[in-house]
Amino acid sequence: MWPMRRNIISLDLSSVKSNIAIFASGSGSNALKIIEHFENRSDVSVALIVTNRDNAGVLNHATRHQIPSLIITKNLLSDEAFILGKLNLFGIDFIVLAGFLLLIPEFLVKRFARKMLNIHPALLPKYGGPGMYGSNVHRAVKQAQETESGITIHFVNTKYDEGGIVYQHTVSLSQDDTPEEIARRVLALEHLHYARVIDQLLTGRVHSAELQSDN
Ligand code: GRF
Repeated sequence: MWPMRRNIISLDLSSVKSNIAIFASGSGSNALKIIEHFENRSDVSVALIVTNRDNAGVLNHATRHQIPSLIITKNLLSDEAFILGKLNLFGIDFIVLAGFLLLIPEFLVKRFARKMLNIHPALLPKYGGPGMYGSNVHRAVKQAQETESGITIHFVNTKYDEGGIVYQHTVSLSQDDTPEEIARRVLALEHLHYARVIDQLLTGRVHSAELQSDN
């Protein structure tokens, strides 16, 4: 389901092998789904996990699946030569943010224009921006008595949650839903759709629908 469609674009990467780097700060449940999705593929590979927390759960997934990982500080993330050097070393041509909490620096946004995706656990542009992460999002949705929430997959620009929207999927809410229940249902949607949308973008099998201008 591609519910919101305006300018149809395609990344047209179908003839080259894609090496993905996943950036994650937390448990990495989305990262794991993506790793599993591409595990036996010759055309797309999860080649690197990047995290800013040395105790992030995503590191366990990397170890178990024998994927190299890189632990960075906020300062290292802003070090253009260091970051681009590492990404080049692993042949990275696509970046997936999956619960990565640091703001992406401008040089990286430019280098990976339309080649860096994020997933947000709400229907952007509502409930996005600084401070809108984790349970904050679902509490705000509950407080506003929204009748629906959902997921947004979008390209990354230099502002939190503002890049062009690629895909959204909604879930209906009832008055009885607690923030925890909303979180559970939204995360299930993320697990169902994120890897598939990445795959469709990378392989060019399905065109993406971008709602806004570049990034
Ligand atoms: C997800 O809810 C995602 O939408 C947000 O961060 C969370 C990451 O969860 N950007 P996990 O670490 O993948 O379980």
